[in-house]
Amino acid sequence: MINTKLPKMWYGGDYSPEQWDEATFEEDMRMFKLAGIDVATINVFSWALTQPDEDTYHFEWLDSLLDRLYQNGIYACLATSTGAHPAWMAKKHPDVTRVDYEGRKRKFGGRHNSCPNSPTYRKYAERIADKLAERYKDHPAVLIWHVSNEYGGYCYCENCEAAFRDWLKERYGSLDAVNKAWNTRFWGHTFYDWDEIVVPNALSEEWAGTRTNFQGISLDYRRFQSDSLLNAYRLEYEALKKHTPHIPVTTNLMGFYPELDYFKWAPYLDVISWDNYPGLDTPHSFTAMTHDLMRGLKQGQPFMLMEQTPSQQNWQPYNSLKRPGVMRLWSYQAVARGADTVMFFQLRRSIGACEKYHGAVIEHVGHEHTRVFRECAELGAELQKLGDATLDSRFQAKVAIVYDWENRWALGLSSGPTVALDYVNEIHKYYDALYKQNIAVDMIGTETDLSSYDIVIAPVLYMVKPGYAAKVEAFVEQGGTFLTTFFSGIVGESDLVTVGGYPGELRKLLGIWAEEIDALLPDMKNEIVMKQSWKDLSGSYDCGILCDLIHSEGAEVLAEYGTDFYKGMPVLTRNRFGTGDAWYVATSPDKDFLSDLLSSICREKGIRPLVAAAPEGVETTLRAKDGQEHLYILNHNAGTQQVELQPGSYRNLLTGEALSGAIEIPGRDVLVLRGE
Ligand code: GLA
Ligand code: ZN
Repeated sequence: MINTKLPKMWYGGDYSPEQWDEATFEEDMRMFKLAGIDVATINVFSWALTQPDEDTYHFEWLDSLLDRLYQNGIYACLATSTGAHPAWMAKKHPDVTRVDYEGRKRKFGGRHNSCPNSPTYRKYAERIADKLAERYKDHPAVLIWHVSNEYGGYCYCENCEAAFRDWLKERYGSLDAVNKAWNTRFWGHTFYDWDEIVVPNALSEEWAGTRTNFQGISLDYRRFQSDSLLNAYRLEYEALKKHTPHIPVTTNLMGFYPELDYFKWAPYLDVISWDNYPGLDTPHSFTAMTHDLMRGLKQGQPFMLMEQTPSQQNWQPYNSLKRPGVMRLWSYQAVARGADTVMFFQLRRSIGACEKYHGAVIEHVGHEHTRVFRECAELGAELQKLGDATLDSRFQAKVAIVYDWENRWALGLSSGPTVALDYVNEIHKYYDALYKQNIAVDMIGTETDLSSYDIVIAPVLYMVKPGYAAKVEAFVEQGGTFLTTFFSGIVGESDLVTVGGYPGELRKLLGIWAEEIDALLPDMKNEIVMKQSWKDLSGSYDCGILCDLIHSEGAEVLAEYGTDFYKGMPVLTRNRFGTGDAWYVATSPDKDFLSDLLSSICREKGIRPLVAAAPEGVETTLRAKDGQEHLYILNHNAGTQQVELQPGSYRNLLTGEALSGAIEIPGRDVLVLRGE
């Protein structure tokens, strides 16, 4: 666990006192104590301040900041500052700036603007990480390293083009293999020389961000750019570890951020950290699913909530305030799903540039008599009281949902069968149905071991990577339940179709084959008609987006399409395979269907909800350590709700109150219940 040096839920966030004067800093220290803040994330965007030219480094300001934080009882999450390069560097070494999707060479400006394959960027980023680690390796304030900031964006410059060719040589070995993987005989694209390969952007194969003539090329470019940024991160990681093998290293991730394959990144982060910025209208279950994904990146290891706003954001079209109680509620939502820190962006509001209207613990008025500060201070006191009671506890789930970035890229790049298919949305539909039934879910990748699960759900598993079908077959053979949906098993890892009938490699396991795939217009529907009731499933349900026209090859048909020329063809099937079952849902169903289907399958597998009964908007999770279970109950509703606990007696760790049976939970309140 990361919290050993400061064995409580770390509480604090991004802090940039280099933007203000001495007297303000003193005030901050006074107010941090009032708020129970004990960690400051510093040096995130100070590269230009520290390094004014190629050879000069001024660390004195940082020495003094670290010392003075520490004297005030504040620890540091110390960033390496490489999320934005200095202006002098861009002027002197133009290779650090990126070339964008349209092929335009960028000038200095913004942040997250460095080319990951720029020799200049790589050299100076590694060097400053090295210098920081050497200088602060023994500083008692340093808890953790924070490399760069929110890596993201792609570059299309000449250095990237050259590096892409090297990456391809490494992946494929020969040009022949590349030509095969990309099916380049289509539209006469055969490459005879590596130098003929160019980056896929608006100047070559792509348009509109996700449209492409060649899925294989575009898919590989995404893999390559994700790897390029990862390699830039790893340079800094190694430099830090060389001096401080004992200090954990992280970089702040962004949930379902589309451009990076975080499952590939995770092994190189000592702890996952992420920045949570839901809108006021983001479904709670979507935020929950994102926390679960972040926890899943390192097989359930606790993560850091690195950033959230205490109240308002500045970059949404409408930046609503977090309503009273919501900041605390959403902080505990992160904790309930695996976070061992609660941290903000930002501790004090800046006065200039684009984030001055972003929420902060200390607002522009500068004193502690604000609603936001009071709420932050109350939570700070509560987390101090909680101490180490819940740290390093583990979430337990018997159901897993598979999410895969490469599959997402391939689906997003696909030309046909529909623009209405949104992979993350399809995943969320399944997640939401389980969330509403208080069934714990792990979000997992294709590399994750399946043996601890009873049910594995892989919505729209369009791309089946080498070995994955065999892995799922083994899981089902030994008694597991697997469920997948329409438009699955279509291609392999290069987006080349697996011929011989969809769903390709999954065909044997599922006991069906799909002959055609129909795309429905936005206002069109079909129906899922149950042949007879099965547990909670009965009657008929709506469905849309895509309808696979499937034939059973041994699978039991539970439901059929209700309309159109494929009325009567199977739409829900279940195939016995070994001692387990493989389900196929041939279309995108409505909420009621998913609710009934998943409650039925969970019941059949003996998976019970965490509470006996809870109304909509009440979220429950369980984290356990050393045999000690903590049940989190969160009421997202504004009004009081009734919850029926499972048999047993509990104590609320936040209030000391003993509870059992039917209980009441006030609006937006949180209970952390310890089983007794
Ligand atoms: C991100 C960044 C921060 C800040 C916040 C604002 O998460 O990491 O530097 O810009 O967004 O919401
Ligand atoms: Zn580049």
